[in-house]
Amino acid sequence: MKMLILGYGNVGKSFVKLLLQKKESVPELKDVEIGGIVNRRGIMLGYRDEFEVNLKGDVFTAYEKVKPDIIIDMMSANYKDGNPSLTLYKTALKDGVSIITTNKAPLALAYREVMSLVGKGRLGFQGTVMSGTPSINLLRILPGAEVKRIRGILNGTTNFILTRMYKGQPFEEALKEAQRLGYAEEDPTLDINGFDAAAKLTILANFAMKKNVSIRDINFEGIQNVKEAIRGNKKVKLIAYADDSKIEVFPTELTPEDPLYYIDGVENALEITTDIQTTVIRGPGAGPINAAYGAFSDLILLKRGFI
Ligand code: HSE
Repeated sequence: MKMLILGYGNVGKSFVKLLLQKKESVPELKDVEIGGIVNRRGIMLGYRDEFEVNLKGDVFTAYEKVKPDIIIDMMSANYKDGNPSLTLYKTALKDGVSIITTNKAPLALAYREVMSLVGKGRLGFQGTVMSGTPSINLLRILPGAEVKRIRGILNGTTNFILTRMYKGQPFEEALKEAQRLGYAEEDPTLDINGFDAAAKLTILANFAMKKNVSIRDINFEGIQNVKEAIRGNKKVKLIAYADDSKIEVFPTELTPEDPLYYIDGVENALEITTDIQTTVIRGPGAGPINAAYGAFSDLILLKRGFI
């Protein structure tokens, strides 16, 4: 089974490392091979320890040349139009090629359109929401329950910054640290202004609540205007919320009675309320190895026929 990897930054490199580390111990990985990797510089056909361009061109050239069975998209999000990923997904899914993605833009912009093409070519997107902490894949194992409400902390960078602000660290300093640790988006404004959390909420609302929404339909505000992150026993958290009447992301004051009050640092959490029960999950929301694990777990689940 041949893979084409798009993007070879922190996440892409962590994914390849995981794959090489676990290839012998995970039976599903035995026949998986890297057919090529594309980054901004060009294409490396096959795999070598040092990235070396041996073919000029973009993701489309690589797709034609490698003829992959699976595309692993770990490029950074382009929210202008989702490209080149979105266009490539459409071609690949029509060809019956599967996609595993950590790139939020194509699904936040055109979820229904992409989903309508899923058939022989499957689509794994755990890595788009809460990185390697099961969110999308948790929802896959709640069959038959009707999701009524979703509430969560879906951005690691802002939760990390707010937590540092509770302790008195200035905003800018905390942001620099989040960037150094590989939590922030390439353009960190997308974290700070709530856009990244809104993109994740869009994907969740489409997938779990059968909504037909794009990121452009979501009301959101980030943490750019938060001056006091903690007041008495109240903490400000960036809360993503969806129910039948609204879908939105806003900084919200939480009290200790709320389970989300205790989610600090880069941790994220998701509270899913269905007609049967409420389930809460928490875990790292960002970080190269965690995002890579989102894609890596999808790869194994896809090979098991679960995705
Ligand atoms: N920048 C994102 C975050 C990365 O901080 O949550 C994970 O999607």
